[in-house]
Amino acid sequence: MELKEIKEFLHGGDYNPDQWLDRPEVLQDDIRLMKQAGVNVVTLGVFSWSSIEPKEGVFTFEWLDRIMDQMYENGIHVILSTPSGARPPWMAQKYPEVMRTGENRVPMLYGGRENHCESSPIWREKVRLIDEKLSERYAEHPALIMWHLSNEMYGRCYCEKCARNFRKWLQKKYGSIEELNRQYWSSFWSHKYTDFSEINPPARHGETQQHALVLDYHRFYSDLQIDFLEMEKEAVQKYNPRIPVTTNMFNVNCGLNYQKLAKSLDVMSWDSYPRWHCQKDKSTEWENAAGAGFVFDYARALGGKPFYLMESVPSVPSQFEVCKLKRPKMHLLSSMQAVAFGSDSVQYFQWRKSNGAVEKFHGAVIDHNGSADTRVFRDVCEVGARLKDISFIKGTQEKARAAVIYDYDNMLALQEQSGITRKKEFFASQIQRHYEALLKNYVNVDVISQEADFSRYQVIIAPLLYLFKSDTAAKIREFVEKGGSFVMTYYSGLVNENDLCFSGTLSDPVFPPYSLNDVFGVRVMETDAICDDEYNEFTYKGEDYKAFTCCELVETDGAEVLSKYKLDFYQGMCGVSKKQYGEGFAYYIACNTEDAFLYELYRDVLDQAGVSRILDIGYVKDVMIRERGGYIFLMNFSRETRTVTETITLGGYDYIILQK
Ligand code: GAL
Repeated sequence: MELKEIKEFLHGGDYNPDQWLDRPEVLQDDIRLMKQAGVNVVTLGVFSWSSIEPKEGVFTFEWLDRIMDQMYENGIHVILSTPSGARPPWMAQKYPEVMRTGENRVPMLYGGRENHCESSPIWREKVRLIDEKLSERYAEHPALIMWHLSNEMYGRCYCEKCARNFRKWLQKKYGSIEELNRQYWSSFWSHKYTDFSEINPPARHGETQQHALVLDYHRFYSDLQIDFLEMEKEAVQKYNPRIPVTTNMFNVNCGLNYQKLAKSLDVMSWDSYPRWHCQKDKSTEWENAAGAGFVFDYARALGGKPFYLMESVPSVPSQFEVCKLKRPKMHLLSSMQAVAFGSDSVQYFQWRKSNGAVEKFHGAVIDHNGSADTRVFRDVCEVGARLKDISFIKGTQEKARAAVIYDYDNMLALQEQSGITRKKEFFASQIQRHYEALLKNYVNVDVISQEADFSRYQVIIAPLLYLFKSDTAAKIREFVEKGGSFVMTYYSGLVNENDLCFSGTLSDPVFPPYSLNDVFGVRVMETDAICDDEYNEFTYKGEDYKAFTCCELVETDGAEVLSKYKLDFYQGMCGVSKKQYGEGFAYYIACNTEDAFLYELYRDVLDQAGVSRILDIGYVKDVMIRERGGYIFLMNFSRETRTVTETITLGGYDYIILQK
């Protein structure tokens, strides 16, 4: 069956029956309980290699045959995973090269997961073989609806094979060592290379300060992993190319460029683990919900269609410093949030708690007690029932008119460069803040890369777009010219994609934002960093707001100055500006500032651009509003009651769905 033919939301999760093969009564319970909980999908085989190929060349699929058949007989779909997230001990013993080498150049010993060398021909051969066998055996199985490749790929290997592949990758990218030297600015500290063979992957005990090299290694490794996943895709689709393929993504910054990977996948899927109830202010879950919202908007925009929530925790996680239980109602609310933001499923890690090893206390639908008489099981049953009630929303998607740029390459470069602040987490958190200011304005938002098609949107916000790819400036110009509203902030348009600064000459000076001075009507002259105990200030529409961390000294030419700095030697200079260019408007925010200001400014930007709000009300603290398929989801992420309108009041952690 094709995914799109499934009328109901998928509800289920990772199921590891291979851990219970000696307990047939447990497996019988599982099926009964799944049906009771409204489970209609399981993800099988994620880490099952040693159960499928216990010895090299000896394949034992019989248990999996039985489970696949049982699932089908009971109306439960299967997402079948390739086992390449972890490998059996025999493999590492016989072929140590399948293990990664660390950045310190020390080869890893057997253990853990997702720590294989993607350059290893043996690793590739073994994975292809087992994937093809799975495809041969199950590609036509009626329970199978999707392939799941590996599991949350991340990290990098630094072995000699990878170094050789890296040099080839560089050769292809730059063509000549001279061009590489130019892009790397390698006369700095006498780093001029004479041959590609002299280049090594970065290392803390070697090179980390040639930023272009570090960026390139990250890009190379991400390309290597994408190539590996494409190999897996080809292998599983060998016997039936109609079965769609996904891999579970989990962290926008895990080392794998999802914005590139998305092109190789049929379906986007995401694992979401907010730290519910651990914020400082225990009365609000806004921060957690907005963090989850950001990645959902990212996952949905990656594929341009609904995504799948592949993993979430039904009760208590085990990987955090403080592992708190989900409070009553939070499981239903957080599941509905995923749906509101475009998920076509609610899936869990995991169905049944393992009895041993590191995740034995990680929350599951069924606890060690094996009972259905638990709060968690009742919560899961309720989600199952509610998902059935709203099946008519499945497959729909709402067009977002506003977008925020979170660009993988830009973030990589921001975190490596050494300006404004050394706090790496600062940069991603800034993008999140701008995103939240839009979210609070109650519009649907896409989170996109700078390579996305801008013409789909009326408003685009680009916080700290430090790195411009070759056509970015031209795209922004065209977007504004044709009527779009583009907001750019401080620290934008400084470097090219190799982290090489744009520069000028006496006769042709170049000021940031690169090649867009006429569009924004601003020229950035200098950039001041602000100590943690200092601030500057400006006024916008009669209200005073503070500026922190970074204030640019901006000269304007043709732009309307919306706010001026009030303090320090640059008092009177422009802090926020707006300029009409062609049919549209270009806004520039020259400093890091308060959330309240961003909310107000974006309110005005959206109004001017004619982007209407889902509900025409101001932000109600902790209440999230999203639209999907002609329905409005109102979700209260406070444990206290919130009055949304004269007629709508939401109790703590309550939600409602209204027809538009
Ligand atoms: C995910 C992972 C699962 C499991 C889970 C625990 O990141 O994909 O295999 O480890 O975390 O939270």
